[in-house]
Amino acid sequence: MRGFTGMAGWALTVLLGAAALGTVQGGEEKTYPIGVVVEKSGALENWGRQSESGMKLALEELKGADGIKIELFVEDNKSTPDQSANAFISLAEGKKVLCVIGAVASSNTRAMKEQANKLKLALVTHASTNVQLTKDTEWLYRICWNDAFQGAVCAKFAKDHLKSAKAVIVTDTAQDYSKGLSKSFTDTFKAQGGTIVEELTYQSGDKVFTSQIEKLKNLEADCVFCSGYAAEVALLLKGAREAGYEKPFLGGDGLDDPQFFNIAGATAGTGVFLCNHAHPEDPDPRVQAFVKKYKEKFNEVPGAMSFLGYDAVLAIHDALKRAAAKGEVTRESLRDAIGSIKDLPLVTGKITMGADHEVKKRAIVVECQADKTMKFCSEVKPDDK
Ligand code: PHE
Repeated sequence: MRGFTGMAGWALTVLLGAAALGTVQGGEEKTYPIGVVVEKSGALENWGRQSESGMKLALEELKGADGIKIELFVEDNKSTPDQSANAFISLAEGKKVLCVIGAVASSNTRAMKEQANKLKLALVTHASTNVQLTKDTEWLYRICWNDAFQGAVCAKFAKDHLKSAKAVIVTDTAQDYSKGLSKSFTDTFKAQGGTIVEELTYQSGDKVFTSQIEKLKNLEADCVFCSGYAAEVALLLKGAREAGYEKPFLGGDGLDDPQFFNIAGATAGTGVFLCNHAHPEDPDPRVQAFVKKYKEKFNEVPGAMSFLGYDAVLAIHDALKRAAAKGEVTRESLRDAIGSIKDLPLVTGKITMGADHEVKKRAIVVECQADKTMKFCSEVKPDDK
């Protein structure tokens, strides 16, 4: 059928009724091709899988509502910046998509930002939280909160809940996300009177943390803030606990990956906290309906990325609907519609796109449990930072 099938990656098309907007020559229905670039293989592959599952569920539920038929072209960035940029270019030039959703890791999204600006194709990140991403661009938008907010939430939690006055920071110097989040945590932690006693570092892919653990044991601190991703932080945590180090660990959304529990085992239990976008046990009826459907379909509990992938498709659908109401949808008109999302209820909260390409949503802090679940600890609304 229509020109978008038979291409690399899966294409999911959902069309409802005869109400599809627009026709092309020959009376065929018109589709709205949307690109997705996520981490489907490599170090961060769980996030690509979860993002894609959330997106599939959203498409199934939308069923072409409002005459808007979305066709998703999903590309694997192999968890690297170079492959992210390549995938973006191929979607822009080969598939003629109207916008792109992705990526998860901030460094991967940064690699695509340059291309988005150059090719004038909107990029909507559902999960990358690095502050710099939305600066100096007319084409990159974010539909989750950023690390200025997340870092402040973590620093407040360290002070108010963990009663910490002194913190050690551990940063992955290979990741934009980790460097930015460490900085934002530090700014708030110091502003509220706390002291950063030391910043320890490593790089993504490191497997041995003996030296950092030795240092940690000799430092006087009340908590350890780890701004990196799950695999490395889990190794550090496991090693530290096995060496008898008992202080609380706190991290950001980058720890929400099944790898965290798989690698850290029982050490990812009590005393380990993280900031997150959503919580599957949130009693909110919208969240519960989502969790139920997700579990039925994929036979697993949704992670933060599942929630965010689902929401990204709903946000694009809303933008397409408003752009289509004004005439033929172009890359520019869709970009403008994304920029004017207003009071849109999503499963992670209601969003309004600001002039700064950012939205405000609540964050939650959870405590890891030995049974691999996370227990709700506190909620922070954007205005009560
Ligand atoms: N916020 C992380 C980043 O910017 C990605 C992430 C989001 C990971 C949500 C897990 C959950 O790199």
